[in-house]
Amino acid sequence: MKKIVVLGSINVDTILNIDRLPLPGETMAMHDRSTAGGGKGANQAIAAVRAGADTSFISKIGKNHAADFMLDTFKDDGLKIDHVTEDEKAGTGKAYILLDAKGQNSILIYGGANQTITVEDIRKAKATIAEADCLITEFETPLEASIEAFKIAKENGVLTILNPAPAKQNIPAELLKLTDIIVPNETEAEAITGIKVDDRQSMENVSNKLHTMGIKNVIITVGASGSFYSQGERNGFVNAYKVNTVDTTAAGDTFIGYLAAKLDSDLSNIEEAMKFASKASSITVQTQGAQNSIPHVRDVEI
Ligand code: RIB
Ligand code: NA
Repeated sequence: MKKIVVLGSINVDTILNIDRLPLPGETMAMHDRSTAGGGKGANQAIAAVRAGADTSFISKIGKNHAADFMLDTFKDDGLKIDHVTEDEKAGTGKAYILLDAKGQNSILIYGGANQTITVEDIRKAKATIAEADCLITEFETPLEASIEAFKIAKENGVLTILNPAPAKQNIPAELLKLTDIIVPNETEAEAITGIKVDDRQSMENVSNKLHTMGIKNVIITVGASGSFYSQGERNGFVNAYKVNTVDTTAAGDTFIGYLAAKLDSDLSNIEEAMKFASKASSITVQTQGAQNSIPHVRDVEI
């Protein structure tokens, strides 16, 4: 069984249903308000475990009712949470998701406990990282922690996957050098390379720039269109499945978790793994909410 470690965030998502984003100074009514389990790291870990991988999660959470609810979901899914620790002071991370009638979202994040993850916490998880096939991280937890985790991974021959989300400029070269596969969406790709993604040629240009930064494998996700991969000489595009989109939250996270679970260690099946990941995220977007909408592998067929 494939062993995956995810280092990343846990958020309680508050979803605010609105027709469209309010204009500056405008007061607007919303249709509904609900909460769901979220956080990029937690969503990715849940996607990986539901895809059938043996998955360990490294994160930090507050000590309150919301934290208990999230930890229960993790346990129900069979996610290994020995390295999810509680922070007495900081609250559990939060996200406020403005969801419009077309299923597009804008998200505000409060880092909370996610921002208290230290290099020391990562060192405590050294043995878990060292014995994994693959390590995934994103940017809702401190960069120093990600760098330390990737260092341990590379010293032990573990494949590293970086989801550079939320978008960030000036990512430390040290982290990029330790990255085997980078998986940005179009916004994140532009933040890193300065190149706007609008067609196949621009995706090749972004990839070439990332290759020169030292990353051998690039996968750019372009929402409802699909995903593009480049390994230098070899590249290709995988079309997305056409579905009725209700909420795109966690679509990218589902893609990453499923991709990691399906990818062979020599990456020879990259296109097939992308197709599978894309099928899984096409299911995620059809229901509102993050973790509750991530499918189990038995419901994903291509
Ligand atoms: O990627 C989706 C996630 O981003 C949401 O669940 C929210 O918590 C934010 O972290
Ligand atoms: Na969803």
